[in-house]
Amino acid sequence: MEYIELNNGVCLPMLGYGTLHILPKDTKRCILDALQCGYRLIDTAASYFNEKQIGEAIRESGFSRNEIYITSKVWVQDAGYENTLKAFQTSLDNLQIDYLDLYLIHQPYNDYYGSWRALEKLYQDGKVKGIGVCNFSKERFVDLYLNSKIHPMINQIEVHPFYQQEETVTLMKHYHCQTQAWGPLNEGQREIFDNPVLKAISQKHQKSISQVILRWHLQKGVITIPKTSHQERMKENIDIFDFILDQDDLNEIRRLDIGHSEIIDHQCYTTAKWLNKYKIHGPFD
Ligand SMILES: NC(=O)c1ccc[n+]([C@@H]2O[C@H](COP(=O)([O-])OP(=O)(O)OC[C@H]3O[C@@H](n4cnc5c(N)ncnc54)[C@H](OP(=O)(O)O)[C@@H]3O)[C@@H](O)[C@H]2O)c1
Repeated sequence: MEYIELNNGVCLPMLGYGTLHILPKDTKRCILDALQCGYRLIDTAASYFNEKQIGEAIRESGFSRNEIYITSKVWVQDAGYENTLKAFQTSLDNLQIDYLDLYLIHQPYNDYYGSWRALEKLYQDGKVKGIGVCNFSKERFVDLYLNSKIHPMINQIEVHPFYQQEETVTLMKHYHCQTQAWGPLNEGQREIFDNPVLKAISQKHQKSISQVILRWHLQKGVITIPKTSHQERMKENIDIFDFILDQDDLNEIRRLDIGHSEIIDHQCYTTAKWLNKYKIHGPFD
């Protein structure tokens, strides 16, 4: 495993395990398999409804808390200072732990400034080792950066060969904010695992297409958190530390960028509308 240092000196693995769409009934088995394969960073969110099962798996695994890095996220419904503090405690209770490694604002909607103040407090109180955001566009990120006491350490955004977000990744570097890629494999879409350019590179290095993509992220300095429910694929996805993509490979992959997401459009008002409407729990109390 390779590690990267955040702007506060905390180190994180460059490759973690994503848990979106892993059903509660499968979560424990997946987490135990992932830990056995060598994953130590686990990415979840209140809106994934699998925090409880992740907590159970970690306890059952026998690993001590400080050997594992856990990320969770506050959902749009819980934006604002007080609600975010409550949501954070709910996540800790679900996971049955007393601190998080990373706590992120899940979406750039609703009162995320209030949420940010809550994250700053949680960080200052030592309840979370790193704080950050997800899906923040360049201008929203810079605005938050300029108006925060503690600056975001992570921006978790969609990045993969078809949507490389080079400008955003470069800007994050400028602000000492680490990019973490969600959907690092484009969620399997656009026939990414059959792409002829990626196939040729994979044959050249005797690696799979998935390994080529994840290696590309690694060489770009971007943390990845690929999701798979299959243990064979977990092993495959973590086996990326024994080869190097050369400049020709990187140039070829660069040409695959289509410059926009085919998964979600955060610039579109309808996205703001449905994510604000999406509720993950009833009213508190
Ligand atoms: N912050 C946010 O807004 C946000 C949004 C989306 C995701 N995320 C996080 O990022 C993580 C990763 O993103 P993602 O789950 O959306 O997509 P992803 O990791 O790009 O792709 C997951 C898909 O690829 C398949 N896959 C994985 N490894 C494979 C392999 N070696 N060969 C063939 N197929 C493979 C999986 O299938 P199987 O499971 O069937 O193997 C699954 O269908 C999530 O799990 C979540 O933790 C965050």
